[in-house]
Amino acid sequence: MPKNGAPIARPDDGGSRRGKIWRRIFLFSLCAAVAQLVYTILPVGITSRREIRLNTQRAELLAKCASIHTPAGPPESYSTSSRVSSGSDRWVPGTPPTLLRNAKIWTGARNGTEIVYGDILLDKGLIVAVGYIPPSLLSAASERAGELIVQNLGGKWITPGIVDLHSHLGVSSAPGLSGSSDGNSRKNPILPWLRSIDGLNTHDAAYELAIAGGVTTAQVLPGSANNIGGQSFVIKLRSTAERSATSKVIEPPLSLTHSSNTTEYIRWRHMKHACGENPDRLYSQTRMDGQWNFRNAYNEARKIRDAQDAFCSKVDAGAWEVLEADGPVEFPDDLQWESLVDVLRGRVKLSIHCYEAVDLDGIVRLSNEFQFPVASFHHAGETYLVPDLLKKTWGGAPSIALFANNFRKKREAYRGSEFAPRVLAEDGIPVVMKSDHPVLNSRYLLYEAQQAHYFGLNPALALASVTSVPARAAGLGHRVGTIAEGYDADIVVWDSHPLALGATPIQVYIDGIAQLKGTISLSKPAEFQDLPATPDWDKEKNSTVEWEGLPPLTGDKLSGRVRITGVKALVGFDNLSDEPRLETAFDVSVNYPDGRTVIVEQGQIICTEGPAEDCSDASLTGAQDAIVIDLDGGAIGPGLTTYGSPLGLVEIRLEPSTNDGPVLDPLNDGDLPALIADTGLIRAVDGLAFEGRGALLAYRSGVTTAITAPTGSGFLRGVSTAFRLGAPHALSRGAIIQQETAVHFSLSFSQKVSVSTQVATLRALLFGDAEESGQIGATVMKVREGKAPLVISVENADIIATLLELKADYEKSTGNTLKLTFSGASEAHLLAQEIADAGVSVILTSPRPYPGNWEKRRILPGPPLSQESAVTVLLKAGVNVAIGVTDESAARNTRFDIAWVALEANGTISKSEALALASTNLHKALGLERSRFLIPDLVLYRGGNVLDFHSKPVGVISAAARVVETF
Ligand SMILES: *[C@@H]1O[C@H](CO)[C@@H](O)[C@H](O)[C@H]1NC(C)=O
Ligand SMILES: *[C@@H]1O[C@H](CO)[C@@H](O)[C@H](O)[C@H]1NC(C)=O
Ligand SMILES: *[C@@H]1O[C@H](CO)[C@@H](O)[C@H](O)[C@H]1NC(C)=O
Ligand SMILES: *[C@@H]1O[C@H](CO)[C@@H](O)[C@H](O)[C@H]1NC(C)=O
Repeated sequence: MPKNGAPIARPDDGGSRRGKIWRRIFLFSLCAAVAQLVYTILPVGITSRREIRLNTQRAELLAKCASIHTPAGPPESYSTSSRVSSGSDRWVPGTPPTLLRNAKIWTGARNGTEIVYGDILLDKGLIVAVGYIPPSLLSAASERAGELIVQNLGGKWITPGIVDLHSHLGVSSAPGLSGSSDGNSRKNPILPWLRSIDGLNTHDAAYELAIAGGVTTAQVLPGSANNIGGQSFVIKLRSTAERSATSKVIEPPLSLTHSSNTTEYIRWRHMKHACGENPDRLYSQTRMDGQWNFRNAYNEARKIRDAQDAFCSKVDAGAWEVLEADGPVEFPDDLQWESLVDVLRGRVKLSIHCYEAVDLDGIVRLSNEFQFPVASFHHAGETYLVPDLLKKTWGGAPSIALFANNFRKKREAYRGSEFAPRVLAEDGIPVVMKSDHPVLNSRYLLYEAQQAHYFGLNPALALASVTSVPARAAGLGHRVGTIAEGYDADIVVWDSHPLALGATPIQVYIDGIAQLKGTISLSKPAEFQDLPATPDWDKEKNSTVEWEGLPPLTGDKLSGRVRITGVKALVGFDNLSDEPRLETAFDVSVNYPDGRTVIVEQGQIICTEGPAEDCSDASLTGAQDAIVIDLDGGAIGPGLTTYGSPLGLVEIRLEPSTNDGPVLDPLNDGDLPALIADTGLIRAVDGLAFEGRGALLAYRSGVTTAITAPTGSGFLRGVSTAFRLGAPHALSRGAIIQQETAVHFSLSFSQKVSVSTQVATLRALLFGDAEESGQIGATVMKVREGKAPLVISVENADIIATLLELKADYEKSTGNTLKLTFSGASEAHLLAQEIADAGVSVILTSPRPYPGNWEKRRILPGPPLSQESAVTVLLKAGVNVAIGVTDESAARNTRFDIAWVALEANGTISKSEALALASTNLHKALGLERSRFLIPDLVLYRGGNVLDFHSKPVGVISAAARVVETF
């Protein structure tokens, strides 16, 4: 088994045995060929035709039987240097050789610790040399090709192309159309004979996006709705001249190509299995049924394998009389089960979607009962709790493919932890970070590794988790995932250290072919070229394991005097202005090299050290002043606000019994009972639940306020509410910041009724007789009078244009101002000036957009694909822009989202303009009134600033709750 972060080793298992087998196969093939020749050319009569036919068949059976025990993977004779002389099998002739000069090269070798300062030569689809390149190699390459492209990288970072071990690229394609969901067959829980390649959409918009994030190779898996969903295939993402799905596959197995080329080795096959909730839900089965499905299927395969082995032992012994007693014989096989037979022969890299300890245990038992290895467990939320169990897997512990942070949406994901990568790595288990694209946009797979690093995974292993480790887990570690001579020329040139937040490719090579225009690059602060330092999470990691994934998340509440030292920056809210505004008290403190002191009592700042104030006064440092929090050169920043997810209304998203539930919608859900129709707009505040894990994790990450609208997918949503994420319950001090904030509707192509019907309904609510519209009309009155914002979830630019016209009509005919906000707004950049002119706010709930469906297909992707991003275009036009999230587990990453936007703005926005995107701009867009929002929470960051990737939130100053809460 691959060891944690070990350099890619040449295959070392069964080498000499393999050599013998190969010689045997060669000999038998030769016999078969000679027999065939004899049969064809010799005149009939010398030997009877029947005998010749029998001899041919016998030779074929001997060859077949010799091959069934051959292990998959490159043979001992495989050598990367002989590859260099012949060129890659994926080489596109005409590709110019390329010399990348003067780079910092993270090679992946020496367990990911090797960094080479020097050059890389790419030629014939391969990496020809790394580090010092002998001039003779350069002249040979340029003479052969007639040219040599030379790029001086000026010390930029290079890594191997990113390898995504878990993707649905091409089978759940973008934009999603009902005809393009090829991720799962729903015919049976056991379908080992299906193949993902048969559904691969070669026009998926996500290839280009993923490449722009440095992804060069991906395993395309069937979905997880079946226990055995089918065979997967590993593809390179670049387009090919043939434009076919098959031409994307790297090392296609013989079962796909049916090549008769017997000089090729047996390529690895790949297959998906899934246990737990997904197949159970689709097939209304239990975990017991799922496990039986596996055993039953493997029993079929075992019978065939045993029949083959018995047959072949007779063939090998030359017992032809016995075999041919009743005429010609056939090798026992079955097209439906042959792939599972190959699993039993150890020739398939299994990827098993499996979360909970109980499910992992079932698979470990299965692997031992039927004796097959498991290449990787995916999602694998509880693997970090059961490392000893993983090691009992037949053949050794699998690699574990994880998300960094996307947890808690179902029971089996509830105990997932950001510390899992570190815990597993410390146990010597190989860790992979994966996208499950499009669950996460694989363009940002590197961000998963960055987060794993932030939460304590060793940096070498963090980079290996998206390069060499997944490559090995897919059986391709001999050619991708590492930078070394003779490896595929899949290379990414980054604009910063790859583990620095927002690292963006400048250029991506696949098979030596440049994939990007290479003209768009961001200018980043110098420190982004260095590995970011990470906070100390030992306490949190230990407590997560101790509490089996559910550690207590509430902090200590200090109502007395707290002395906060080492404060280098203080950005808070301007409590006096009419408009919500941030105020920087101090940022750099030349005269305070160790930072300043801030004293807080009852959650109120009573002293801020500075030229005008001395916080060392005896009355301030008296006996009560016992508690000291050292921020170690850190900062106090504004508590951030999250919007867009159902945080506060949802705990385990797929478990209705843990959630507030959806709003019924008169346009989409048919006639509502009169009682409901007459209740008026639904208020989120009435359904809030506190102390959910999503809420508390966001709170501990510097997001102290949520503005949440009622949940629903229809036209009518209801009235949002603003509340404190750290509050214990609705009646606690300061829990509810503002009961009613904005009135929410949603306009979309994907509702049951037409967009024009949705617009007509909205028009009727705005222009119609309020009394006739009943209670709903009464709530909408606040919108009509300009007292509350009308927030419309809308992605599409054409619907946005219609809404801008509606606003103009309304204002012209009534003289009132309509406070309008667009949320979602993936295509808003197309109408940036019109939106600015109309005074409409925009909340981008996907600041790093994805064209997941038709109505948002025209995204502005941002660097390196476009100079501008949607945020920068809207800001430049003068729009009040804010950002949000769509998934509650992402709320905690708000400060990183802001930092990323700021990096993409390339120095055109200030730090406080960036912070405003998830605070004051959002408050304005959603109608959080200044007077109600008296003194918002402030957050304490140790070791850095709000937007730094290396700082750690350690507490909250809450004037509303009159405490300092420390974590
Ligand atoms: C890589 O790590 C493995 C497992 O921790 C260890 O056995 C091996 O010696 C390391 N290799 C190098 C080159 O450091
Ligand atoms: C057979 O495979 C080998 C190794 O990949 C290759 O060099 C050779 O050209 C192939 N032969 C044919 C006839 O395709
Ligand atoms: C960022 O700014 C630098 C110089 O300030 C400029 O060279 C570069 O083109 C800009 N990049 C983008 C994507 O705007
Ligand atoms: C975490 O646990 C380890 C192993 O039990 C222990 O050595 C270490 O001191 C603990 N650290 C903290 C901060 O609790």
